[in-house]
Amino acid sequence: MTSDRVVDLLRKAYGDEMETVMNYQTNAIVLDGVRAEEIKESLQQDIQEELGHAQQLGNRLKQLDARPPSSAEFVARQDSLQPPEDSTDVLSVIEGVLEAEEGAIDTYRALIDAAEEADDPVTEDLAVTILADEEAHRTEFRGFEKEYRNE
Ligand SMILES: [Fe+2]
Ligand SMILES: [Fe+2]
Repeated sequence: MTSDRVVDLLRKAYGDEMETVMNYQTNAIVLDGVRAEEIKESLQQDIQEELGHAQQLGNRLKQLDARPPSSAEFVARQDSLQPPEDSTDVLSVIEGVLEAEEGAIDTYRALIDAAEEADDPVTEDLAVTILADEEAHRTEFRGFEKEYRNE
């Protein structure tokens, strides 16, 4: 039906999405200042999308007779997305988001390859769709990065 590698990557992607939701949410709350407003709004929007990704991944796991991970198995990885000590340090959050999106892009690319190899076009299609969302997030935050570096 599919490969263990596909299931492992689906579970990893699910955990990453949930960690991203947690850290985007926290940063959207913690950041201060007029300059942060745009970033906070964008993070709030992305939280909904990342949560949607996790839902889709979890449903796919169920269709494959597997389960998404829960908190007991969870290992935190997003060091660069911990909220900055200085709550007006918007750039550090932007850099953390970019790192998270790059990580997600790598995972979905690996999932696309593994699903293709396992002859699992449904998972492959899902990974392609989510990959497009992550690339759009990256583009948006690359734009913010340019803006903040030029100030
Ligand atoms: Fe996502
Ligand atoms: Fe994303």
